[in-house]
Amino acid sequence: MRILLLASAFNSLTQRVHVDLRRRGHTVAVELAPGEDALRVTLGRFAPDLVVAPMLTRAVPEDVWRRYTVLIVHPGPPGDRGPSSLDWAIADGAAEWGVTVLQAVAEMDAGPVWASASFPVPPCGKSELYRTEVADAAAAAVALAVERFAGGGFVPAAGATGPLRPYHAQEFRRIDWAADPTATVLRRLRAADSQPGVLDTLFGREYFLHGGHPEDRLRGAPGSVLATRDGAICRATADGAVWIPQLRPRRVPGGPATYKLPAARVLGGLLAGVPEVPVEPAAAARRETWSELRYRERDGVGHLEFAFPGGAMSTGQCERLLAAYREACARPTSVLVLGPARDFFSNGIHLNVIEAAEDPGEESWRNINAMDDLVEAVLTTEKLTVSALAGNAAAGGLMLAIAADEVWCRASAVLNPHYRLMGLYGSEYWTYTLPRRVGEHHAGRLTSAALPVGAAEAAELGLVDRVWAGDAARFRARVEREAAALAASPALADRLLAKKRRRARDEELRPAAAYRADELARMRRNFFDPGEPYHGLRRAFVHRTGPAGTPEHLRVGPGAGGVREVSAGRGRTGGPRDRA
Ligand code: COA
Repeated sequence: MRILLLASAFNSLTQRVHVDLRRRGHTVAVELAPGEDALRVTLGRFAPDLVVAPMLTRAVPEDVWRRYTVLIVHPGPPGDRGPSSLDWAIADGAAEWGVTVLQAVAEMDAGPVWASASFPVPPCGKSELYRTEVADAAAAAVALAVERFAGGGFVPAAGATGPLRPYHAQEFRRIDWAADPTATVLRRLRAADSQPGVLDTLFGREYFLHGGHPEDRLRGAPGSVLATRDGAICRATADGAVWIPQLRPRRVPGGPATYKLPAARVLGGLLAGVPEVPVEPAAAARRETWSELRYRERDGVGHLEFAFPGGAMSTGQCERLLAAYREACARPTSVLVLGPARDFFSNGIHLNVIEAAEDPGEESWRNINAMDDLVEAVLTTEKLTVSALAGNAAAGGLMLAIAADEVWCRASAVLNPHYRLMGLYGSEYWTYTLPRRVGEHHAGRLTSAALPVGAAEAAELGLVDRVWAGDAARFRARVEREAAALAASPALADRLLAKKRRRARDEELRPAAAYRADELARMRRNFFDPGEPYHGLRRAFVHRTGPAGTPEHLRVGPGAGGVREVSAGRGRTGGPRDRA
């Protein structure tokens, strides 16, 4: 079929549906432009059989839904209505939630139901839930709805008639630090993570709090800041304490736009006297405390988990991960598995921290060098290394993953093996590792097309080695089993020897340092030459001011009906009202 994806942004879920529908053989076009006229032009040109809206924050015009079947993905179970479904689900402590694919009609979320799917709600932030359980359920429900539509004859169930749940405004998010126990505070923080955050006061100033994680030991006067750790702050609740990794100062009317940054950095000197309380990755793995790094060993395998908000890795985060990586390398294990238990593997250098630097060019340079040092360590490790991708990865973050000997991927992951949309040539030794995996032709195609790649396609290309279906917990269990089998395999010694030989041969052909030097020479120009688009694109990304519309690289070819041309837009899970 010809399917038009109508979305407010080419965000993770839209990318997932894009990948899935293409994989099923459909011709897929994308329309992101907010204007109704632009939509009508696209519909006229593309003449879709079906319109699917994976993430839409505006109403579908009446003439459109009367003429075409428009299927809307609603992140709530059948019967649920309103614009803040996930926020309410998390805030109310729902144990199970759902996704419904319903047909657009005049009333919001009231159309006939074509498919639905449910999922258990784990204790995590809204965006992580959206990119993991919601994405899996939505992909399954969309596939079923599309199949039902294609088959003809399916009669969708009547839609919901109950009241709309209201927008989850800040008044519902408020934390009473003196009275609220940790469980309540965590629900509030998670329901607002990553956007819009919980509006709160710290040291007499207003901030949005982003992220919330439990702390098992630190205690103090409710509301007080007890400690810092790797940029996060620990704040006491009525019966315990929570970690908050990021803050965004409330925008002063008429003042400059604000954006999320590590909390301790935002508060700066206000934290005088607050102790830094570090935790070793191995200790963190045994405790219920927040840490970006966790390390555990099982069956002769080292597992180094890292989890960075939004998958972004600043200079400091790269350095800390490298230090932990070196320690893991020194352990008596033969296999080392890298990657977070859930959500993003990595999205490369930290564009927000760079934006906030006094000299963003210099900070970009430090950050990419720190990433390269990390990738170099992975490339030259004598153990067998495995990158485990429970979730999505992009740009330099994906190149970090493919530096490992093996890449194992959850079937739901969406990969973006390109840097072009940020105006960068890229580094992380990608000119060595990407062609080594997929060949020169596909390396060129993937980096220039700048399209998302699904796990199945990635496996066919050789970008990843193994793909397993299932939720994040099942994937993790499978990774543990397979890594243990690798470590116990009699063939391991031969593999390690072959790895050593191959690296030596490659080094002789062209030293890894030469790839890095060439890449960095180009990145230097990207960072420091006036007239390069990177600084403008980064600013637009961080401040969310990119032009709304369908980016050029998503236009379909003339055969499919050629859609509009607008420069790069980007993905968002939150609606416009989230920008307080
Ligand atoms: N630096 C800083 N923040 C980043 C980031 C980066 N490299 N990559 C992602 N994020 C943040 C986003 O700002 C967003 O924040 P929010 O939750 O407050 O909205 C969050 O991570 C998730 O990203 P989002 O864009 O909403 O997710 P998505 O699934 O729709 O899109 C990407 C994922 C990776 C395609 C998109 O985030 C992207 O293009 N990131 C930049 C990649 C890049 O160019 N890296 C630098 C070169 S190495």
